[in-house]
Amino acid sequence: MLKVAVIGLGNMGWHHARNYFETSEAELVAVSDINPEVCQKAAEKFRTRPYLNYQEMLSKEKPDAVSIVVPTSLHKKVALDCIHAHIPILIEKPIAGTLEEGDEISETADKNNVPIMIGHIERFNPAVLALKELIVTQKLDQVTSILVRRVGIYPSQIKDANVIIDIAVHDIDICNYLLDGKPTSVHSKAGKALNSERADFATLYLDYHGIEVFIQVNWITPVKIRELNVTAVNGYAELNYLTQKLKLYESNYERTFDSFGDFVVKFGNPNIKELNIKNAEPLKQELISFLDCVKNGKKMLVTAQEGLIALDIALKAIKSCEKNQIVEV
Ligand SMILES: NC(=O)c1ccc[n+]([C@@H]2O[C@H](COP(=O)([O-])OP(=O)(O)OC[C@H]3O[C@@H](n4cnc5c(N)ncnc54)[C@H](O)[C@@H]3O)[C@@H](O)[C@H]2O)c1
Repeated sequence: MLKVAVIGLGNMGWHHARNYFETSEAELVAVSDINPEVCQKAAEKFRTRPYLNYQEMLSKEKPDAVSIVVPTSLHKKVALDCIHAHIPILIEKPIAGTLEEGDEISETADKNNVPIMIGHIERFNPAVLALKELIVTQKLDQVTSILVRRVGIYPSQIKDANVIIDIAVHDIDICNYLLDGKPTSVHSKAGKALNSERADFATLYLDYHGIEVFIQVNWITPVKIRELNVTAVNGYAELNYLTQKLKLYESNYERTFDSFGDFVVKFGNPNIKELNIKNAEPLKQELISFLDCVKNGKKMLVTAQEGLIALDIALKAIKSCEKNQIVEV
């Protein structure tokens, strides 16, 4: 069984520790956080050893794999320390705060032959996987547009990232995954509504070689909404990331001529199908996949390269806001 550890036990890291504790695929040998109370509490809850200093933890426990769940601005420092200790890592999204930092992580990992995965959790959402299948099997053929909403209240613990870097990056990665590539350009607008420090609302318009993607993100809507809708020539799909429900509307139309001889498209009622999806906790699926790749030397399902592409697009969206112009990707 793999010996695993978690560095950073805040909002997200706590759930990494919980899932490792609950799975039979790994043994949670240690946890680390600079906050003594949090560290002790997690160690008691998940029956493991606490460390205030993660470097001491790495050298004493010699884990086979580590989750890095510290604030984004610290990803580089912690990741490089793990890589130099030759420990495979799962780095929470986004890979880093800047492209330079992300590149350094990725290059150092390659040079030292250390596998890394980026925690783009929605890749493991069963509804997203089912949607990808609809596209691959052409049940949704010739996608013309994707519309995403990821809105809700402000997460007070985030102090080093704006709404684009922190949450739009999820949907940028998902659209890259669904559309098998990256956009050619991005145009974005953002602003500060309730927060004077960082942008807390934004809209992104991404052009994937003619396929339009529109992403709305914010930390101001009092209700949590996480939805993605796909329009294709032969149908339309509505995905809810939270409930993991996916509804497919199969188009029902014929091309014909009206009584004046003009060409028309006649629509009948669509066939509506609620897909049968087995709900699963995306983080659990992500961690099991990470462990499987470490154990069996498989390629990670979300690579550093993909994490870098998502970050690059998010940073270009920010540049687009600042310059108020379209930015090439
Ligand atoms: N995949 C997702 O859906 C998702 C959701 C939330 C956060 N995240 C990502 O997870 C990361 C952490 O976010 P969060 O919301 O959990 O933040 P957080 O502030 O709640 O937690 C960070 C924790 O790291 C600890 N820490 C700081 N420096 C440390 C160090 N040197 N050694 C050990 N611990 C240290 C802090 O004390 C804190 O407990 C960020 O990169 C964020 O983008 C991802």
